[in-house]
Amino acid sequence: MKTLKDFNFKNKRVLVRCDFNVPLTPKGDILDDFRIKKTIPTIEYLIKRGAKVILMSHLGRPEGKVVEDLRLDKIQEKLMEYLDLSVVKAKDCIGKEIEDWINQMAPGEILLFENLRFHKEEKEADSDFAKALARLADIYVQDAFAVCHRPHASIVGIPKFLPAAAGLLLEKEIKVLNKIIENPVHPLVAIFGGREGDFKAINKISEIADWILIGGLIKKEIEEKNIKLKYPTKIIEPIDNMDSEDIGPQTINLFKEKISQAKTIFWSGPLGKIEEKRFSKGTEEVAKAIIETDAFSVIGGGETVEFINKIGLSENFSHISTGGSSMLAFLSGEKLPGIEALK
Ligand code: 3PG
Ligand code: MG
Repeated sequence: MKTLKDFNFKNKRVLVRCDFNVPLTPKGDILDDFRIKKTIPTIEYLIKRGAKVILMSHLGRPEGKVVEDLRLDKIQEKLMEYLDLSVVKAKDCIGKEIEDWINQMAPGEILLFENLRFHKEEKEADSDFAKALARLADIYVQDAFAVCHRPHASIVGIPKFLPAAAGLLLEKEIKVLNKIIENPVHPLVAIFGGREGDFKAINKISEIADWILIGGLIKKEIEEKNIKLKYPTKIIEPIDNMDSEDIGPQTINLFKEKISQAKTIFWSGPLGKIEEKRFSKGTEEVAKAIIETDAFSVIGGGETVEFINKIGLSENFSHISTGGSSMLAFLSGEKLPGIEALK
């Protein structure tokens, strides 16, 4: 897999796939801009080297139609704020007008395409659509780890037609997550919460973990669906609950005790219904317990990361992944289409 170091970007049109799919309020304001912030180093790297930078992303699931609330204007504002540079936003992502615009771009300028998923061809991985995007650039950079599990046109299609490189964020995600799979320092404690369990990931990570702590609604799901986990002796379930919406005080103590012994910690998914403050204690206590250890700690998943940012603890973890499903798929040993396409 090639990385940024392998290319000379001077004067080149560089098409960067980002994941600006951030959580929004019903009014369309950005709730958490973590994913945007994380792509800044790649953009700055390219600007410094004289590239003409073209950014593209999806936002939400507009299902192939223009949805006004899912335009990337708010993303454009955030980018300008973080880069302290002007970013022009295009009305679409393909077409003659855009091609003309790109032909007039100077090195160091930045153009942001409109939401890729306004075209149904994106999700269908349509080859002509990928080709139409590819012809607008000289080099493709993949920096959207969080969507690398989707075999869409901008993910797997474009690199068929352009020389391709992994961006700085993607490179870092792969490196850190590989460290957990290949060489974890034990004890490894993995914590799974959220609305539903990814049992494939739980089983897979159980192979290398010493303990698996589960919260959220997963215990209920295991009981209701009669799920048989592969390594039941490693699983530590809640022993008390707060109205079944959060882990109770005894469970918090039990989890803290395991976490305090860990040398590697992986965590994905809140342990209670954190939208309500009264049910966010378990998640907050677990977060605090993790940062008190000297363990190598990796967390991920949109809701978890948003919560950690909100309570101001994000600086204290070794790595916060921008991925949710893509991270779990990667840790489960699956080959992610977006990464495979770069090889
Ligand atoms: C995500 O947030 O999960 C990624 O951006 C991919 O989006 P999707 O789940 O709508 O495909
Ligand atoms: Mg998703």
